[in-house]
Amino acid sequence: MKAIAVRPGTPNSVHLADLPKPKLTDIAGGRGVLVQVLKVGVDATDKEINEAKYGNAPPGYDFLVLGHESFGRVVETGPEVTHVRPGDYVTATVRRPGGSIYDQIGTSDMTSDEVYYERGINLLHGFLTEFYVEDSEFIVKMPVGLKHLHVLAEPMSCAAKAVEQAFEVQRRLKVWRPKLAWVLGAGQIGLLSTLVLRLRGLQVYTAARSPAPNLKAEIAEGFGAHYISTERTPLENLVKQTGRPDLIVDATGSSAMAFGAMEHLGHNGVLVWTSITGGQARTQVPSDKINLEWVLGNKLLLGSVNANRGHFEQGIKDLALGEVMYPGVIERILTNPVQGLDHYAQMMQLLVEDKNALKVYVEVAAG
Ligand code: BGC
Ligand code: ZN
Repeated sequence: MKAIAVRPGTPNSVHLADLPKPKLTDIAGGRGVLVQVLKVGVDATDKEINEAKYGNAPPGYDFLVLGHESFGRVVETGPEVTHVRPGDYVTATVRRPGGSIYDQIGTSDMTSDEVYYERGINLLHGFLTEFYVEDSEFIVKMPVGLKHLHVLAEPMSCAAKAVEQAFEVQRRLKVWRPKLAWVLGAGQIGLLSTLVLRLRGLQVYTAARSPAPNLKAEIAEGFGAHYISTERTPLENLVKQTGRPDLIVDATGSSAMAFGAMEHLGHNGVLVWTSITGGQARTQVPSDKINLEWVLGNKLLLGSVNANRGHFEQGIKDLALGEVMYPGVIERILTNPVQGLDHYAQMMQLLVEDKNALKVYVEVAAG
């Protein structure tokens, strides 16, 4: 069976690998689910793994199969599997349990272990192949009515977690009624976070570099948010216009922006960082000012990575609600299909070079 893989540690090593087809019985206890892969999304994580910035092969392999944003159809299930049946559309969570207490209660997204196991990213093969088997615990059903949003389930789970965590930590305040949010970055996580916050009733300003008109602006505005070009309106000016936000989600992939956002958060606010920045950048910030304001304002900085099953389920509900509230907008994120695993070079080229490619995904099989 074909798979798109890299040799971790070797830059630009993306290639086609060969894997044996998995069997239902590879998973013990009758809990196996055999899935035919239909589509797999790729993002900056896959690009940075191919740049050898991070990522590790599973033990015993010198390659790592890429792909963590999966969409497929169930082929066969073990006798203990009750929540999905053959023919169902499914996605799969990405992280697998390590040893910490958080891993044991189904929240490996919150693992306290230094080592984490993520399919397609670290120590486990991903989904950019033809079939996979997985423990049913990690398989999440996609409603047939959301089939057209396929690979967005995984990035949506990360957006759902980021916003859920912000509300969760803000319970420290006894009463928190956020009105104004900024989302920095209008890639898939920025746009999906914009959607989640709009569905929670917040006024949202979504900021990215390029001036409107452009697709990102149309999608953000399609969700009822305001799109801001930071080239035209730097955050120092935006804050004069909107006041200080109660919540900021940073999804820029730029640590300078992530730190810069600290200057603008309102009292009692929360800043959520969601980007994995694989580089070596160093940045200067007005640290005395930030330190003073953050103490005087009881402000909070929150990192949010990955997502557990509950976040996938919440994210899928929000995709459904998003379709009802803003019909036809979400699918506009899905800009660049690539036909078949053979076209791995085109897939990587789109990721690296096409600044307008909001979402690159591989059509592995029809269905
Ligand atoms: C994935 C997450 C993952 C994170 C860190 C992201 O691209 O969507 O599931 O936890 O990378 O590896
Ligand atoms: Zn990702």
